[in-house]
Amino acid sequence: MCGIVGYVGHHQAYPLLLEGLKKLEYRGYDSAGVALYCRTNGLVITKSKGEIARLEEKIGTDIPTGQVGIGHTRWATHGAPSDENAHPHYACTEEFALVHNGIIENYMSLRRWLEGQGHRFSSQTDTEVLAHLVEHYYNGDLLLALREAVHRVEGSFALVVLSQRENNRLICARKDSPLVIGLGEGENFIASDMPAILSHTRRTYILEDNEMADVTPDSVVVYSLEGEIREKEVHEITWDAVQAEKGGYSHFMLKEIMEQPTALRETMRGRLLEQGREIDLAELNLALEEAADISKIYIVACGTAYHAGLVGKYSMERWLRIPVEVDLASEFRYRDPLLGEKTLVIVISQSGETADTLAALRLARSRGNPVLAITNVMGSSVAREADQVIYTWAGPEIAVASTKAYLTQLLTLYMLTLGLASKRGIEKARIQEAGQALYQLPGLVESVLAREEEIKDMARYVARWQSTFFIGRNLDHAVAMEGALKLKEISYIHAEAYASGELKHGTLALVVQGIPVIALATQSAVLDKSISNIKEVKTRGGYVICFLQDENQDLEAEVDRIFYLPATLDFIMPILTVVPLQLLAYHTAVERGCPVDKPRNLAKSVTVE
Ligand code: M6R
Repeated sequence: MCGIVGYVGHHQAYPLLLEGLKKLEYRGYDSAGVALYCRTNGLVITKSKGEIARLEEKIGTDIPTGQVGIGHTRWATHGAPSDENAHPHYACTEEFALVHNGIIENYMSLRRWLEGQGHRFSSQTDTEVLAHLVEHYYNGDLLLALREAVHRVEGSFALVVLSQRENNRLICARKDSPLVIGLGEGENFIASDMPAILSHTRRTYILEDNEMADVTPDSVVVYSLEGEIREKEVHEITWDAVQAEKGGYSHFMLKEIMEQPTALRETMRGRLLEQGREIDLAELNLALEEAADISKIYIVACGTAYHAGLVGKYSMERWLRIPVEVDLASEFRYRDPLLGEKTLVIVISQSGETADTLAALRLARSRGNPVLAITNVMGSSVAREADQVIYTWAGPEIAVASTKAYLTQLLTLYMLTLGLASKRGIEKARIQEAGQALYQLPGLVESVLAREEEIKDMARYVARWQSTFFIGRNLDHAVAMEGALKLKEISYIHAEAYASGELKHGTLALVVQGIPVIALATQSAVLDKSISNIKEVKTRGGYVICFLQDENQDLEAEVDRIFYLPATLDFIMPILTVVPLQLLAYHTAVERGCPVDKPRNLAKSVTVE
């Protein structure tokens, strides 16, 4: 989820690359770099940790000259943010420079093989193997070298390579990570996202998966990875620059909701193997070895991450049969928590910088408890200070309302649960069945997203009210809390999440004619009970919007709206159930004219108490 830009033509490349990178900075901002071919000095590569402004400071007035170059703004996945780990990466001879988005899953084995061949590495990234592979296979043709290189790698990539040996040519390739080619007159552009090139051209070729292209100032030839020439249609971009930054969506939140299938796929990449039959959390070997000995788990987080923790509690207790407490970080830190000797503390934080979560982490460590962090930001404070880290690979989340981070937090908690379960002697067939169901989730999320119009229609009704309820039992209650938070946060409608069985103990008094009640009933073990609670609400005049898995014609006749979710194992349903709730919050906020991406009084990263 980083940003790539490339230029080859008759203008000076550096200002164009920099302009493009600035447009992509929202895609990643922990480091940046450029590589240009300069007639007098060969390849000139400059990279810097931090935002693009830091790169500019580093370059100062010593602006590199040259009419071909590549640039990158990074969101770290493998290797912490640093000058060395910033892109472009180069091979031993520094004659090849390369930028990459995506994840190379088999980079460790490739690196060992390349080191055996005498290659010397200068970063901790997965990407660097690609630069060395290109160097290894280079035999006078950069296109052929890159083709050989990409056939050796497993994973996802959008990449562009530049060589001083063929200095009027860029070669790029794509698999599971976007890449477009902007067509100019005597110049051509390459970018991971439209905003980078939109002020120069609107005519593009969109590379498909498993395609590569040979790009010079006067020509663009697209090939399959097998070397067959592909005929491409020119795609004319009609978006304006602001829309383009959001990938054509009207808000970052909607873009991020729609990115969820990709975010899930990235987060399971290299971890759910053989279509989910094997779970590999090699990054956590130590914690997993100690797993057999854990007698309690504490999950500590804030906001949406806390809600993910609540879902984690259900699955961990069910699978591991050990007590799991979930606490708000702001409470945990001031209540002298009882942390036993064999207690594992898990902190969850998208940003990795939330002040309360960080304080909770420090408290747990000061008591001698091992802390495992689940975070989306490599090199963040939480990642640096925890004993173990497992990253959600959701990519940058810009909208204040967290969506794709939540889904990947859930997935990570599920994978962790199954990983721990395998160390605690749980039957392999059960774990495999669950792993395979997890593997199917991105496709199922896609099928829910395709039904956005149904949700839009519900939103028109909800938008008219000042108060709503979200109800559910067990896991549905945890998801109801997240659904209510999303609606409050961006539409400013009061939303209260309630355990369905608790309504009759007081809150039912607030159910009046027409009030929207979002009822979740996805858990088969408590389905009958949930349906009884729905009927209690309906009898009192509530306008019930119901989400469930299995068709239920009796209920259809009684409630106001019904949305059938795709069927999967009950314990992983939250990943599907929350998606229409995110869309409901989004469309309700749009209907009310709210500033969706930047709701009042809130900030993306809460670094104060
Ligand atoms: O970065 P973190 O995950 O630590 O952030 C925690 C909360 O501040 C965050 O989830 C907040 O609740 C979101 N705005 C919810 O959409």
